[in-house]
Amino acid sequence: MNVMIIGGTSGIGLGLARHYLQQGAHVTACGRHPEKLQGLAHQRLTVQPLDIADRDAVRRTISQQAQNGRCGLDLLIVSAGQYADAAAIAQDRNAAIPVLKVNVGGLDHAFGAAAEVMMARGGQLVAIASIAGLQKDYPGGSLYSASKRAAIAICDSYRKALEPFGIAVTTIIPGYVDTARLRELNGGDASRKPYLMKEEEAVRRIAAAIARRDERYVFPWQMHLLVRIFNALPLALKSLRQK
Ligand SMILES: NC(=O)c1ccc[n+]([C@@H]2O[C@H](COP(=O)([O-])OP(=O)(O)OC[C@H]3O[C@@H](n4cnc5c(N)ncnc54)[C@H](OP(=O)(O)O)[C@@H]3O)[C@@H](O)[C@H]2O)c1
Repeated sequence: MNVMIIGGTSGIGLGLARHYLQQGAHVTACGRHPEKLQGLAHQRLTVQPLDIADRDAVRRTISQQAQNGRCGLDLLIVSAGQYADAAAIAQDRNAAIPVLKVNVGGLDHAFGAAAEVMMARGGQLVAIASIAGLQKDYPGGSLYSASKRAAIAICDSYRKALEPFGIAVTTIIPGYVDTARLRELNGGDASRKPYLMKEEEAVRRIAAAIARRDERYVFPWQMHLLVRIFNALPLALKSLRQK
């Protein structure tokens, strides 16, 4: 199997890269900082510098991968993601740009390019969205939440369009996963986040959902339930939660 992971240089994406290498797959891990993978040498691993916001570069990289006799492309996973909270955006409006360019535009570039090369023999597209995308009025992170809601909608559209061509689309919708990036966003310690999941456990569950070709996989269920309850609250109560 030939797997490409955009956002495969750290966190959940890197965990998935390790998983598919263990399964015997050929893996191409992409990101803006390929040097992060210097310690991970493997004969079936290709490390590729790529900025998912650069549409032409994404098309070129995916089409080269598909034409490469050794590789081809069976599974594309987009784990690349950017976060900026409302306070950061209020301070500098430019902070919103990467969130939109990566989480929304980049996902569309990658799915569009991969769909073209998979048309002939099928395949699977996967996006790592977020449970924030299911929550209406996500406290402090409304743009991130909207971008992940858009990511979920993009997956739904591609799924409908690509089903006749044997291309499956899986949307992964995680709650909090204890990655280095989440810890960094929370002053070095994410342990107070509700239903925080260990990275290895999240990777195991995500890989299983991909193997089942789930349309959507939301986890953990407790976080999903909380979000559904929150969404059902009247606006006045929600705004109390945001203070
Ligand atoms: N951790 C959580 O609690 C959690 C919860 C729900 C959803 N998620 C989502 O899960 C995904 C992975 O998150 P993570 O916690 O594993 O964070 P992470 O370690 O920061 O992973 C993000 C990956 O995206 C890559 N990336 C960022 N901007 C890029 C760009 N412009 N072009 C190409 N690659 C880019 C980064 O690599 P480079 O630096 O090399 O570019 C990195 O490999 C994200 O989409 C995130 O929104 C995370």
